[in-house]
Amino acid sequence: MADLIHTVADLRARLFPIRHERKIIGLVPTMGALHRGHGRLIEQAVSGSGFVIVSIFVNPTQFNQADDYQAYPRDLAADLAFCEQRGVNLAFVPSAAEMYPNEGLTSVNVSRLTDHLCGPHRPGHFEGVATVVAKLLNIVQPDRTYFGEKDCQQLAIIRRMVEDLNMPGEIIGVPTVREPDGLALSSRNQRLSAEQRQAATVLYRALRKSEDLVRAGETCPGEVMKQGLAVIESEPLARAEYFEVVDPEQLQPLDEIAGQVLIAGAIWLGTTRLIDNLRAAPADSA
Ligand code: PAJ
Repeated sequence: MADLIHTVADLRARLFPIRHERKIIGLVPTMGALHRGHGRLIEQAVSGSGFVIVSIFVNPTQFNQADDYQAYPRDLAADLAFCEQRGVNLAFVPSAAEMYPNEGLTSVNVSRLTDHLCGPHRPGHFEGVATVVAKLLNIVQPDRTYFGEKDCQQLAIIRRMVEDLNMPGEIIGVPTVREPDGLALSSRNQRLSAEQRQAATVLYRALRKSEDLVRAGETCPGEVMKQGLAVIESEPLARAEYFEVVDPEQLQPLDEIAGQVLIAGAIWLGTTRLIDNLRAAPADSA
């Protein structure tokens, strides 16, 4: 039976003997509504660590809109069963008051990496993410922490934060888990109507089209973006928020495609926002 712990003090007390036994502690931070994407992170953590903690916390500070926060799917019983089935040792499920007992005067802001992609469209979002992840890393002090490549900007920001602030432990990126038609698994997919669900594959199709162009030797980022956007625009139910080609480390726009690039996009289907990304490189540079 996985332990269920709600407070920082209880968690620290529980982890004290685990650390003493020198077990490798793996952490998978989540906001719950667990699906096979989270499942892949958990599986990797279970195979790579001696003690696995899944945190489930819908972090209010990373939501731009109060109604998006309220509407975020929550099903703790299902999430705990999901963890149980996969051999998780402990679920850390703090309340908002436990994580933010006062107004919190300190936050983590990773500059430059937040300038493009989701950053300009979600002001304050990555500050909320970086701050809560810094708190979780300080609370748990894991040896390894697992994040999905699906949220590529989040992963790049966390890697940089850990490097810049000398936070201990290793950050491990896990490849995106997709539906058979290419749609990246997301807790937000359950909000889509049947028609929107069909239309949602357009983002992956746009990414694949762009990947093909890069692989075939297209060197102009603007051309790749234009053709990717045209795929999205061909789907009447979808609205593109952004579709960009950037360098994979600093997430900055490129003058020319010469090596590996990150292609990332966000679309809206009604009131649901979906993101996805792929890495691509010219065939002759591989
Ligand atoms: P959440 O959206 O619940 O995602 C938790 C982790 O699961 C993230 O690292 C995310 O990239 C990964 N993930 C989600 N869908 C995935 C998929 N289809 N394939 C692979 N990995 C996937 O991301 C967050 O929560 C929060 O921002 C958090 C880091 C917990 C901070 O609050």
